[in-house]
Amino acid sequence: MIRTPIEIEGQRVLIREIRLGDADPVWQLINDEEVVRWTIQIPHPYPADGATKFIRKCRRQWRKGEAFVFAEILQQTREFLGVISLSNVALRHGCAELGFWTGRPYWRKGLTTEAVGLALRFAFEELGLHRIYASTFKPNVGSRKVLERNGFKLEGVMREAVVRYGQRHDFLNYGILSQEFSTE
Ligand SMILES: CC(C)(COP(=O)(O)OP(=O)(O)OC[C@H]1O[C@@H](n2cnc3c(N)ncnc32)[C@H](O)[C@@H]1OP(=O)(O)O)[C@@H](O)C(=O)NCCC(=O)NCCS
Repeated sequence: MIRTPIEIEGQRVLIREIRLGDADPVWQLINDEEVVRWTIQIPHPYPADGATKFIRKCRRQWRKGEAFVFAEILQQTREFLGVISLSNVALRHGCAELGFWTGRPYWRKGLTTEAVGLALRFAFEELGLHRIYASTFKPNVGSRKVLERNGFKLEGVMREAVVRYGQRHDFLNYGILSQEFSTE
C-alpha cells in the first residue's frame, strides 16, 4: 500500500497524488482540443462533471493499487500543470502503463519530461516495478520525445492501428526496463 499524501520533487516540478481539489484545473486544461488531439478516448468538449468523476476513479484505483495517478505541479507557483499516470499495474509481472498530458500554456518547457522522470522513479524505486510501457500516435512528436528523453525504447509499430478524426495512424509502443532507468 502506498500511503498518501506523497510528493516527489524534481528541479522545477513535483508530482503528488491527484486530489478532488484538482478538478477545476483539470477541467480547464483538458477541455482543449489540442490537448486531447492525440489521446485515444478523451472527449472534446469535456463533460462538466468529467474531471470530478475521473479523480474519484483515480482515488479508488490508488487505494486498490491498480493505478497511481499524479498531479504535475510547478514547484515555484504551485500551479497545476497536468496529469501523469501509472495504470494497469500488474504486480505479478512488474509492469505498468505510463500516460501523461500537460496543459497547453506549459508546453515545450521541458516540464513533462521532468515529471515523467519522477513517475519512473516512483515506479522503479517505490513500487519496485520492472518494466513501464507507453503507446503513442506516430505524429505525436512531443510525446515521443518525452519518452525517448526518459530512456524509453521503441519496441514496436502497430501499423495503421488507430483512427483519429477520420485519419488512420500507426501506433508506437515504447518500453523502459528498471536497469535502463537512470536518475542522472
Ligand atoms: C506531448 C506533450 C506531453 C509534450 O509536453 P511538453 O511539456 O511540451 O514536453 P517537453 O517540454 O518536456 O518536451 C520534450 C521534447 O519534445 C519537444 N516537443 C514538445 N512538443 C512538441 C511538438 N508538438 N512538436 C515537436 N517537438 C515537440 C520539445 O521541444 C522537447 O524536445 P527537446 O528535448 O529536443 O528540447 C504535450 O504536448 C501534451 O500534453 N500533449 C497532449 C497530450 C498528449 O498527447 N499526451 C501524450 C499521449 S501518449
